[in-house]
Amino acid sequence: MTAMMNQSATTELKMAPRGGAFAGGLLAIDDLTGDQIREILTLAASVKTDGCVLGGAYAGALAGLSVTMLFEKPSLRTRMSFDIGLTKLGAHVVYLDHASARLGAREAVKDYAKNLERWTDAIVARVFKHAVLEELSAHAAIPVVNALSDLEHPCQTLADLQTLIERYGSLDGLKVAYVGDGNNVCHSLMLACAKLGVSFTAVTPKGFEPRFGVVKSATAAAHETGATITISRSIDDIKGHHAVYTDTWVSMGQEHQTGLRGGEFTHLQVDADIMAIASEGLEEPAAFMHCLPAHRGEEVTDDVIDSAQSLVYEQADNRMWAQNALMLKVFGKQ
Ligand code: CP
Ligand code: NVA
Repeated sequence: MTAMMNQSATTELKMAPRGGAFAGGLLAIDDLTGDQIREILTLAASVKTDGCVLGGAYAGALAGLSVTMLFEKPSLRTRMSFDIGLTKLGAHVVYLDHASARLGAREAVKDYAKNLERWTDAIVARVFKHAVLEELSAHAAIPVVNALSDLEHPCQTLADLQTLIERYGSLDGLKVAYVGDGNNVCHSLMLACAKLGVSFTAVTPKGFEPRFGVVKSATAAAHETGATITISRSIDDIKGHHAVYTDTWVSMGQEHQTGLRGGEFTHLQVDADIMAIASEGLEEPAAFMHCLPAHRGEEVTDDVIDSAQSLVYEQADNRMWAQNALMLKVFGKQ
């Protein structure tokens, strides 16, 4: 009994300082309130202005902390932006490449969590199944951050919102259209829009709509904020939308469905015509957004992704600032 008490006291002591509402990390936009999302975005703007450069307000704020990056799938933006961003904050990052063996294969997810909490102060994980994140979170005494799962991509959405605020000055009165597969990126964006009062329209082929439970949750949130959530098959429903967002038609883990999916989506390729439909009635042409990686010539044409209306590299840039803001909150440093 004494030994057990000592062990638990040791665990308490080694835990990093925790950040209130964000103490557990972030698994899903669905877990946040609109005010909590705004809190991160306000900090993200300040973190970006500061640049986290030596002598700035945030440089070294996470000194002495170690973060595990556990990735079952490939990544350019998420891996780079977390690694570089956390380094700017003074934290130490360890990358665990899990591409060749899914979590739980060599040892139980629970045991993974219970080992990692002994050495590191947070886990940033990219997984196939969202349930694996929940399992890690349930068993680790350290925060867990979703770096993409089949259900949500919350860090992407935080960067996307930061990008929209920079482009339009605020989110007030904005309408966002999502065209393509009702996937993880669509889920997080729709939920955040609903919670922030931004009207959202998803146009998808039949059978590729966002998940029912996510639409239900977004619709309930939108009811509170006055936003509208529209799930449609008609591209005409994106008229007057300030941003057109698309993503790959085949997400990581769905490669076996490539043949089946391609044909279903071709009419939703975001080209100049679709951008013109969105821009109808607006003072300025609609912006184009994509989380990347893009499959040029599939979900988007070169002329659209390379146009002056394209925000894709700003979105990539803001991954780092939005995530740094999130991590400062997670560790209770802001
Ligand atoms: N947008 C995004 O998450 O990119 P990566 O898959 O390269 O991390
Ligand atoms: N929906 C894509 C996003 C990649 C960043 C995927 O899950 O593969």
